[in-house]
This record gives sequence, C-alpha cells and structure tokens, in this order.
Amino acid sequence: MSRKLAHFLQFKDFSQEEFDYLFARTRWIKNQFKSYKQHWPLSDRTLVMIFEKASTRTRLSFEAGMHQLGGSAIYLNTRDSQLGRGESVEDAAKVISRMSDVVMMRTFEQDTIERFAAHSHVPVINGLTNEYHPCQIMADIYTWIERHGSIQGRTVAWIGDSNNVCNTWLQAAEVLDFNVHVSTPPGYEVEPERAGLYGTGHFEQFTDPMEAARGADIVTTDVWTSMGFEAENAERMRAFADFQVDAEMMRIAAPDAVFMHCLPAHRGEEVTAEVIDGPQSVVWDEAENRLHAQKALLEYLLIGRCPM
Ligand code: CP
Ligand code: NVA
Repeated sequence: MSRKLAHFLQFKDFSQEEFDYLFARTRWIKNQFKSYKQHWPLSDRTLVMIFEKASTRTRLSFEAGMHQLGGSAIYLNTRDSQLGRGESVEDAAKVISRMSDVVMMRTFEQDTIERFAAHSHVPVINGLTNEYHPCQIMADIYTWIERHGSIQGRTVAWIGDSNNVCNTWLQAAEVLDFNVHVSTPPGYEVEPERAGLYGTGHFEQFTDPMEAARGADIVTTDVWTSMGFEAENAERMRAFADFQVDAEMMRIAAPDAVFMHCLPAHRGEEVTAEVIDGPQSVVWDEAENRLHAQKALLEYLLIGRCPM
C-alpha cells in the first residue's frame, strides 16, 4: 500500500480536518497501547532518524513508536555519518530515501530540511529545526484535547523566547483557531515572517508577562537558550530574568489553567520547581503523548486514514 508523498515540515502543512483525524487516531492508538493490543500496520517499514542536535524525547518516541507499529528505526547523527563530513543534503536525501520508507530529521536551519524533503522519495518529518517543532505542538494540543476537549477559542500564554516551539504554537493557532498571547523581552519578539504566519490575527504581543498570562487556559514556556544559540547564553540569562513562570503567574491565569513545557526544563530559570512539579503541570503527559501522536503521524504519512 502506498499513498501520495506528503511531508510534515511545519504545523501548517496539515489542515484542521487532518489534525482532527490525527488527534482522534492518537486517542485510538494510545488506547490500543494501554490495553497491550498489538498494532503492527508498519511491519517491514523502516524509519531513518537523522539528528544534527541532541535529543532524549524525540529519539525515544520515534524509535519506540516505530517498533511498536511493527517497523524498525535507524539512528544517524552528524558525528558518525557522512553528513558531518560535507556530503550535501541533496545527495544524502536521495540515498537515504532509497533505503527507507520515512525519514525524521532534527537539524538547524529549516532550509536544510526543506532541501532534504525536496530530494526525498519518502515522507520527511521535522523533529525540530531552529524555526519549528511541529511534532511537539501536535502532542501538546492532543494533551489539552484529552483533558478538556477542543482547543478552538482557547488562549495560550507563551512566556519567554519566541523560539521554534513558540513559532509552532503560533502556526497552530492559525490552523486550529485559538489565540496565543506572547510576552518576550525587548529584542526577542515574534518575527511573523520567520514564524510562517498567514497574518490571521491569532496572536497578540505583551510587554508584561503577567498581562499575557491573565485568564489564559494554557501557560507555557521553554528554555531561554535553545540548541544552537549557546554563545548567547550569558546575555539571555540577563534578558529573560523577569520572564519566569511562577505560582503568582499561574494564579492570574484561568482557574483550571494547565502549565506546559516541551522539556528539557531548567528549574529556577524559565519556570519554578513549584509550578513544573505542581498540580497544574501536565509536562509528563506532554512527553508521553509524543509517542502516541507520532505513531498516528507515521501511520498517516505511510498508509493514510485507517478505520477506528
Ligand atoms: N521536547 C523535545 O523535543 O525533547 P528532546 O530534545 O529530548 O527530543
Ligand atoms: N527550544 C528548544 C526545544 C528543545 C526540545 C531547543 O530548540 O533547544
């Protein structure tokens, strides 16, 4: 069985209707997994995972997920492959995609994964770039949906750096019709073009993080220094000092607000231990749901829609 070649390089690559299917399928796949029911639609299929940056969750969830679907996964990194020795992305894409059924790539510039996908014979999934992290937000929105239902019309408060995870929340807001309140220090504001927004007015910027969090359904943040920006660390520590999610901020959010973080987290920097380890935090569900959501994604890209 095969289907038209499709990639997942940024959140807006799929429509609201496709996400509705994927979220329903994630629930179904999670239930099968929790009931120890074997589900092997991808037997004989191979996922190649290319990592140009470090990872715990993304590697584990894709590798375990592919095995649980009956397939196999191969891990490549820059250090041990010819990718780190100057072989072009285009050549690598042509070769790797002849020997596999699907590729997941974590890299620096979005342009690199776009070029890889343009020369790939098989679906390519973005496992994080400097610009986007679509698999993370798919799992995060599923985490909201499984607790509260639709995210449409809800408000997400993003506190801190307008990074890859923030950009993806912003794209998701346009696709799924919710609102994002963003509060960043001066000089770190959202760049709508880099975020790939259509300009549909689903986000608002706030100078005061407390105002961004006021009444929000989800309060979320991320590390102040993302991978690839380590040289700016000292400067960022100073710039972001007032952009910490703490208990006072959670109190100003909606009464049943949840706290989200893609992890890894730095307690005492972007979030206090009290919040991330407290009752409103859903970070462990977010991490686990990477597994279930990405299994739905792999199945969708390789087989298409399946009856539930
Ligand atoms: N959230 C996330 O992508 O984690 P890793 O960097 O561990 O993959
Ligand atoms: N913004 C972080 C996310 C890590 C999962 C980074 O890019 O390093």
